[in-house]
Amino acid sequence: MHTAEFLETEPTEISSVLAGGYNHPLLRQWQSERQLTKNMLIFPLFISDNPDDFTEIDSLPNINRIGVHRLKDYLKPLVAKGLRSVILFGVPLIPGTKDPVGTAADDPAGPVIQGIKFIRESFPELYIICDVCLCEYTSHGHCGVLYDDGTINRELSVSRLAAVAVNYAKAGAHCVAPSDMIDGRIRDIKRGLINANLAHKTFVLSYAAKFSGNLYGPFRDAACSAPSDGDRKCYQLPPAGRGLARRALERDMSEGADGIIVKPSTFYLDIMRDASEICKDLPICAYHVSGEYAMLHAAAEKGVVDLKTIAFESHQGFLRAGARLIITYLAPEFLDWLDEEN
Ligand code: PBG
Ligand code: ZN
Repeated sequence: MHTAEFLETEPTEISSVLAGGYNHPLLRQWQSERQLTKNMLIFPLFISDNPDDFTEIDSLPNINRIGVHRLKDYLKPLVAKGLRSVILFGVPLIPGTKDPVGTAADDPAGPVIQGIKFIRESFPELYIICDVCLCEYTSHGHCGVLYDDGTINRELSVSRLAAVAVNYAKAGAHCVAPSDMIDGRIRDIKRGLINANLAHKTFVLSYAAKFSGNLYGPFRDAACSAPSDGDRKCYQLPPAGRGLARRALERDMSEGADGIIVKPSTFYLDIMRDASEICKDLPICAYHVSGEYAMLHAAAEKGVVDLKTIAFESHQGFLRAGARLIITYLAPEFLDWLDEEN
């Protein structure tokens, strides 16, 4: 057949056939600009001050509150499967531990500092991130220090948060991640790390674009950190505040953040894209938060979705939007799934 005849009988435009590009499992992987890998997964750990604790959390399926003595058995199989990084949250359960300024946050005998030391010793290759906040340790459950009228005392809050961050770094944390959302804390933390001679070996991962919404409930159950009065709407960003998020991203970058967290994730993919453009020279981390995780589990239980399929679909969405790292309660599952054929 002559080429000319062939073209005459073939009305299809050359550019209209895309299926050749993804008709094979390998091709479907080639189509992603960034593939999900084990290295990008960060697993949250709730460490309580009861050393033998191993408590399930009703609203957070498959996740436990763990005492320092239980960490070894818990982490060993995960590290063996390729877990590279954890983010620590301290949970003080002993009555009388909380006070208005969150003194227990950096108690040398408390769960975070004990946890850091234990993990450094037992799993030296594991990269340790510490969430830096006061809400788990304050009697009022807010993320900073308050004035008498209940509003945030910015100056006292950021200096206290900086002290906590420096103490975590001194204890051996590789990375500090302030989640309080109080203005100016990145600058104080960076300055504190410089003064303590720790800045060159401590990564400052800022929760820069963190929104106040309805998705942190299970976390607050796990960490016992719900505010006793009011909400966090005057320091966490309003969900519609894209402009505020952009300003917070610019600000935290200029104050010395080494990386950026966008949180929650699924409902904020536009913000993740903004972050990857505004902070294009910094790693962007998506936080798939407790409420999002619990929702996927609930939907899977109802038979609305398949957990593994929806997990890949959501996490691939974060990468597509510009994230390079993901904090996710699904990390243990992904360590298995990424070894399987996909
Ligand atoms: C502490 C903190 C919270 C989360 C991370 N760090 C709770 C909050 O801000 O109320 C939420 C994480 C999650 O829901 O998984 N400030
Ligand atoms: Zn907090």
